[in-house]
Amino acid sequence: MNAELDTTFVKVCDLEDLAVGTPALADVDGIPMALVRTAPDEVHAVNDVCTHANVSLSEGELDGCTLECWLHGSRFDLRTGTPSGPPATVPVAVYPVALVEGAVYVSTIPAASTEEHPS
Ligand code: FES
Repeated sequence: MNAELDTTFVKVCDLEDLAVGTPALADVDGIPMALVRTAPDEVHAVNDVCTHANVSLSEGELDGCTLECWLHGSRFDLRTGTPSGPPATVPVAVYPVALVEGAVYVSTIPAASTEEHPS
């Protein structure tokens, strides 16, 4: 384990278990996540539940760093969780990912930039 990873990181799978370009559903300490390997050495993790309705984003279509919900077509940026257009208006939570010695670790704490701020 990399000493820089705090205790919120959980080993989810081996990197080779994820095919480039094919989203996968993972249960990370009870949190459903869509894991997306967008490049040989790049993996993103977002909450698997579309913020528009209760459907699985890991069943959506990948386009570069964007995951498109299969039901109504909202497209979420995997780096920020932000939808690029309606009907979804709320970002999905993005979780930090670390690749260590061929294994994929994901934090159960969302990245700060995706947290909702009260207005
Ligand atoms: S359920 Fe995902 S955009 Fe409507």
